[in-house]
Amino acid sequence: MIGLAVCRTFELTFVRAILIGYREDKLVKTVSRCECALRGASQFTVTQEKQTMPTLAASPVMDFQSETYKDAYSRINAIVIEGELEANDNYTQLSEYLNGYKDELIKLAKMEKKHMRGFQACGKNLSVTPDMPFAKAFFSRLHDNFQTALAADKLVTCLLIQSLIIETFAIAAYNIYIPVADDFAKKITEGVVKDEYMHLNFGEEWLKANFETAKAELEEANRANLPLVWKMLNEVEKDAAVLGMEKEALVEDFMITYGEALGNIGFTAREVMKLSAQGLAAAA
Ligand SMILES: [Fe+2]
Ligand SMILES: [Fe+2]
Repeated sequence: MIGLAVCRTFELTFVRAILIGYREDKLVKTVSRCECALRGASQFTVTQEKQTMPTLAASPVMDFQSETYKDAYSRINAIVIEGELEANDNYTQLSEYLNGYKDELIKLAKMEKKHMRGFQACGKNLSVTPDMPFAKAFFSRLHDNFQTALAADKLVTCLLIQSLIIETFAIAAYNIYIPVADDFAKKITEGVVKDEYMHLNFGEEWLKANFETAKAELEEANRANLPLVWKMLNEVEKDAAVLGMEKEALVEDFMITYGEALGNIGFTAREVMKLSAQGLAAAA
């Protein structure tokens, strides 16, 4: 099974590389990681690889107190705070709709609130005021789509938006941020990212258990929402670069984690490639 997951990762890497014009050196590096994983599959999990092998080869020296850094941080920090608040609201709302999971969803919502407070502390630590209006606008399309789906009782769409897209977006952002973060933020983010894998797993398990009835709605929700991720990544590309986070690395981490999640739910490797390509093509 692990080997299969890694093969899926391998294929996904090529799909994305073809679609966005990946730099050859980075592609070779990523493919090598997949090949190593295949050779050591018995002792290997994909999650462990992502957590222990930062995508960035070396951490640049950051001036965390420069005006340029703090200006970019005011938007990135706000996005993270807003993302955690959005996740808190989404899980709280889902707890009222998803039969039999109320306690678990409330527990997840509380974790998201704790994450939000942690990232607020990161901003304070650098004397940065987060630009919350910017972050609200940044999340507005996913927010609106979630609310529209909830009102229509489309819980599969809600889970795709929160547990797959938002959680995977957070995982990718935190994985890429950790190697370039200040010491205070690094400790907090390392703790948070572990929780986000657990939240992603919650959505995977529910959707896997309901795969046959959820499949068509998942495909539709993917088509409608995955392109938003690419638009969002484009909107933060410059600020993320100031913090030392490469867009290519963010896309890579997102794509691999999202594709693995789709595969864990029950989509075949070919379907995962198709779903990924649909999102990318619509965003182009
Ligand atoms: Fe979170
Ligand atoms: Fe989460």
